[in-house]
Amino acid sequence: MRKATLFVVVGLMVAVLALAACGGGGGASQPAASGGGAGDAAAGKTLFAQTVIGSSPGCITCHSLEAGKTLVGPSMAGIASRAGSAAAGQSAEQYLRQSLTEPDAVVAKGFQKGLMPKPTLTDKQANDLIAYMQTLK
Ligand code: HEC
Repeated sequence: MRKATLFVVVGLMVAVLALAACGGGGGASQPAASGGGAGDAAAGKTLFAQTVIGSSPGCITCHSLEAGKTLVGPSMAGIASRAGSAAAGQSAEQYLRQSLTEPDAVVAKGFQKGLMPKPTLTDKQANDLIAYMQTLK
C-alpha cells in the first residue's frame, strides 16, 4: 500500500519535470529569428509612422497611407495587395524586403530610380515593417 503510493508520487513528479523541461526548451520560442522571421506588424506600424529613423527620414515622410495620395513615393494603401504582382517571380514578402534592401532594384510604376534612400534598419525592424505592410490590403 505505502510503496504503491510512493510510486504514484514519484511517477507524477517525473511527469511534471518532463513537461516543465519541454515547455522551457522546445516550446514556442519568443526571440525574433533574425532574417526572414515573422515580424511584428504592430511594431512595424509604429516604426512606419516615425518621421525619422536613426538619421534618415522615416517612411511616412514619403509614403502616405491614404489611397491615391502621393508624397515623394507611392501611397502604401493597398501595398499588400499589389506587392505580390509588382515583380515577376517575387512573392509579396520578397518584393517588400527588396524594396527595403535595394530600393532601386525594382522601381514602382510612375516613379524614378534614386528617390528612395536605402533605409538603415535592423533585421527586426525590416521584418516588422514587412509584416506591417502586408496588412495594408
Ligand atoms: C525620401 C523618400 C522616401 C523614404 C524616406 C522612403 N521611401 Fe519608400 N519609396 C520612395 C519612392 C520615391 C519610391 C518609388 C520608387 C522606387 O520604387 O524605388 C518608394 C518605393 C517604396 C516601396 C515600393 C512601393 C510600390 O508601390 O511598389 C516600398 C514597399 C517602400 N518604398 C517602403 C518604404 C519604407 C518601409 C520606408 C521606411 C523605412 C520607406 N519606403 C522610406 C521614397 C521613399
